[in-house]
Amino acid sequence: MAKRIKHIGIFTSGGDSPGMNAALYGTVKAATTQGIALTGIRRGFEGMIDGDFMELDEKALQRTMHQGGTVLKTARSKRFRKLPDRKTALKKLQEKGIDALIAIGGDGTFKGLLAFSEICKLPCIGIPGTIDNDLTGSDYTLGFDTAVNTAIQNIDKIRDTAESHNRVFLVEVMGRDSGYIAIHSGLGTGADSILIPESTTDFIRLLDKVRDYRSEEALIVVVSEGDELGADLVATKIREVNPKVDLRITTLGHVQRGGHPSAADRMLGLRLGVAATEALVAGEKNGMVGVIRGQLSLTPFDQVVKRHQINETLEGLLKIFSKS
Ligand code: F6P
Repeated sequence: MAKRIKHIGIFTSGGDSPGMNAALYGTVKAATTQGIALTGIRRGFEGMIDGDFMELDEKALQRTMHQGGTVLKTARSKRFRKLPDRKTALKKLQEKGIDALIAIGGDGTFKGLLAFSEICKLPCIGIPGTIDNDLTGSDYTLGFDTAVNTAIQNIDKIRDTAESHNRVFLVEVMGRDSGYIAIHSGLGTGADSILIPESTTDFIRLLDKVRDYRSEEALIVVVSEGDELGADLVATKIREVNPKVDLRITTLGHVQRGGHPSAADRMLGLRLGVAATEALVAGEKNGMVGVIRGQLSLTPFDQVVKRHQINETLEGLLKIFSKS
């Protein structure tokens, strides 16, 4: 029988994402219900190495549900890649009496936990927290829905000015090497073309469109930041095939990371916060909770960090909507 969990340490790590505070609230509520102590670890793995702990107040967390970012703060830790620093982190957790961990983050976080599991035998459960939606083991990650909505609101605004001037606009969205934000925000705004890292034929189709473009209407192109060419080079190529185009580039950048979490991200955060706590109580370890086709799931960390592919349904939609 698994040892009874008495004291969970929780942290957020990597890029912040809207809905992380809801996940913290979900966890504190579930832990309190189970009679388990919960301690916050500030600044992700950095705070773990430094022993930067924080008491988590249930009432205070309840009032942060509507805020983007993470009240625990976050970091991308270079130090945690080194074994001596990981050993220091383990010592700090032991001194604090922490006997289980919940991590909210993306693939870098789970890779870090895999490395940590070589020396740390504490059970760890992950919650997918990244706007990129690039993790195997959950249909959606925390913050993705909010980021897409933010991108859509901004692309709609760009369309107003683009239509007024009959301009070609390249709008670069985030996602690292995943095209999910580009696909959802591009389809959701009726973009004329969507360029993603997972496809190399999308650019050829765009050039065909631009060659015959007559400057009598706007053309909106959503470019994922991880696209193999990138917005600047795409702009150069467009000007080469059609020097008449009046073209502008807009990079949406970090606005996509902030803002009030959407209803979907708040619910996902609460649900996964509770699920992570219950998974630890049930004796689970080294896996990420997620939601697949509406059902809660648990996926081992080594599977989670494998590349999340664009599914067939989205590929089909892209084909239909990228035809002229
Ligand atoms: O992983 C989330 C993300 O916002 C990516 O989409 C982006 O490439 C990256 O983080 C930006 O990282 P930083 O905030 O460290 O510049």
